Amino acid sequence: MWSYPRILAHRGGGTLAPENTVAGVRRGMDAGYRAIEFDVMLARDGVPVVLHDPELGRTVAGTGSVADMDALDLAARDAGSWFGPDYEGEPVPLFVEFAQYCKAHGVWMNIEIKPVPGHDAETGAVVARLAAALFADEIAAGRVGQVPLLSSFSETALAAAREAAPRVPRAWLTEALPPDWEPRARALDAVAIHTDHTRLTASGAAQVKAAGFGLFCYTVNAPARVRELFGWGVDGLCTDRIDLIPPDFF
Ligand code: G3P
Ligand code: MG
Repeated sequence: MWSYPRILAHRGGGTLAPENTVAGVRRGMDAGYRAIEFDVMLARDGVPVVLHDPELGRTVAGTGSVADMDALDLAARDAGSWFGPDYEGEPVPLFVEFAQYCKAHGVWMNIEIKPVPGHDAETGAVVARLAAALFADEIAAGRVGQVPLLSSFSETALAAAREAAPRVPRAWLTEALPPDWEPRARALDAVAIHTDHTRLTASGAAQVKAAGFGLFCYTVNAPARVRELFGWGVDGLCTDRIDLIPPDFF
């Protein structure tokens, strides 16, 4: 089952804007996108921020671990200059503000729970609880296609998310399908499998679909490959190349 958009902008605006920023979401919207994937982790004070790396230095100016900084300190840092001078001063988003921005603009969210190592359970619980609060009306009304989809490579984080907010759906992210993928996905009560398209086979895709799960691939940047994956029964995917692959491509 897949009640969601089929093509998502990876990390907000793909590689056309700084990842995991509001500027990225705006860039995605300019390209017609109304669905994104992004990454969330907890700062030292337990407040979630939109970031991919647990260490500063690549996209955020500074050094050190996200786990050693409070969210407002992170939010004051520059997450745009690395991409280009036009984005200087673009902040690290606080998760709640970022999600509110997306919701207000009708942008559907695949929220990847990306815990700082060792903080899996608390990250899953906090993010799920906040998502449930933000979408309480949609959940109560059964508008499943509007409620965000949580995903994570961390089964611990997903189990904690389920415990904290069972009605926010979850997807299990796995680089490749292990032999025991199905019982593991069922144990998490996951609605979908999210996987690296380069490790997926047509037969693996068929197995996931036959078992009744949604199937989502990351990160697909060639139009021909998008066609092939959808031909295999893949339900959705994210792309960095929002310039080459429009949201209604397929
Ligand atoms: O959620 C899919 C994809 O984003 C997982 O890999 O490293 O880009 O977060 P990564
Ligand atoms: Mg991600």
